[in-house]
Amino acid sequence: MNISVIGCGYVGTTTALMFCELGYQVVAVEKDSKKLAMLQQGKLPFHEPGIDSLLIKHLHRGSLVFTGDIEEGIAHSKIIYITVGTPSLPDGSSDLSFIEEVSRQIGAAQNDYKAVVIKSTVPLGTVDKVREWIGKAQKRPLPVDLVVNPEFLREGSALYDTMHPDRIVIGSDNPEAAETVKQLFHSMSCPIIVTDCNTAQLIKYTANAFLATKISFINEIGRVCDAYGANIEEVASGVGLDHRIGPHFLRAGIGWGGSCFPKDIAALINMGNNNGINLLIVQSAQQVNQDQIGYFIDRLEGELHGLNNKTVSIYGISFKPETDDIRESPALKVIAEVQRRGGTVAAYDPMVFDKHPELKLPGVRVARNMEDAWKGSDCFFLITEWDQFSKIDWGQVMQEMRTPLVLDGRNVLDARKLRSLGFRYYGIGRKTGIIHE
Ligand SMILES: NC(=O)c1ccc[n+]([C@@H]2O[C@H](COP(=O)([O-])OP(=O)(O)OC[C@H]3O[C@@H](n4cnc5c(N)ncnc54)[C@H](O)[C@@H]3O)[C@@H](O)[C@H]2O)c1
Repeated sequence: MNISVIGCGYVGTTTALMFCELGYQVVAVEKDSKKLAMLQQGKLPFHEPGIDSLLIKHLHRGSLVFTGDIEEGIAHSKIIYITVGTPSLPDGSSDLSFIEEVSRQIGAAQNDYKAVVIKSTVPLGTVDKVREWIGKAQKRPLPVDLVVNPEFLREGSALYDTMHPDRIVIGSDNPEAAETVKQLFHSMSCPIIVTDCNTAQLIKYTANAFLATKISFINEIGRVCDAYGANIEEVASGVGLDHRIGPHFLRAGIGWGGSCFPKDIAALINMGNNNGINLLIVQSAQQVNQDQIGYFIDRLEGELHGLNNKTVSIYGISFKPETDDIRESPALKVIAEVQRRGGTVAAYDPMVFDKHPELKLPGVRVARNMEDAWKGSDCFFLITEWDQFSKIDWGQVMQEMRTPLVLDGRNVLDARKLRSLGFRYYGIGRKTGIIHE
């Protein structure tokens, strides 16, 4: 069986490799010539653990071919996966221009029946638009089925997640097309849910909104912990042991970011607004998340008695560890807010600056290594919990910083140890009222 995948970003490349692993022949289409050249040479244009070796394996085997020619991709197979981006527009709605472009390209290049599978996260109702865009671009009327197969992978463990999904969701208004796509996953042992298109899409949005809400909820409880000197980790583990709640996504911190939660939550709110539905819980989750940055920076400003002439060292720029993805990263928002309040920023990330030489952060001193960022600084501010930050020699940090202040945006550092070394340490809900235990 042949499969085509259009759009070779985090999702498209991982999906293509997953299908190769399942034994299919895949042609993957990418329009960005720089990315395409890298992929054709077996180099990943982004960082994702475990993908590099699979990429080389399947290129050598010939089970995976990358091309910039969409006609080649479409001619290759009856099943075409769309995995292009669907970023947010300023009003929160989804920018469907990439989806429209691909749909028109598919229609224009179509020569026989195709099952077009939308893996990109798209608002409910988009399937009808895609059908229309394809139809209008066809040179003569040709049959096409539309299927949605939303993706639930997490960057940083994308390969594992696609190879071991909790469930696979397939939506189509044509049971035969749904069955064809379902059969692609016959060797996988997870539950497969087959439903209509809108329901399948809403499963994706609901999952992301629920997870984001869980994080915002525990972050709000973290503020109550701060006020009363209670411990958020103990609250979270005590609550998470209730099997109705579960332990996941109850880690308090500086909040969520990335390429999915912010835009998917915004899109869901927008879908509600378009239908006169005020999604209060989701809106609150979004608001709490936006406020969380200010909550940390208010603490920072208070501890340093203002940020003028103060240097804040930001540790971690990607939105989470083990990825170079900086879309909607909390670190970028923290940097902007520190600068807005008069502070100066030094920044370190083990991955981002190497992978994104084009990234410009005006006024920010980019540190070459971890040590370079904390020298002479007034605050060590951890935003992204890269593993290497757990191995820091805090005795050395104490000697080299100007002010011994640590803000832990992920509640991962050893609060007791740092306080015993003389640091003023603040996470969220970590007995921050008691500076020296
Ligand atoms: N990244 C994630 O963690 C994740 C998880 C689940 C779902 N999703 C969803 O999957 C979709 C893709 O996300 P992503 O992070 O992989 O995006 P991305 O921006 O990393 O990749 C999209 C790729 O598509 C290419 N492209 C755009 N138009 C094209 C065209 N006409 N022909 C060929 N290539 C084209 C772009 O150049 C880019 O390389 C989005 O809808 C996203 O919401 C993402």
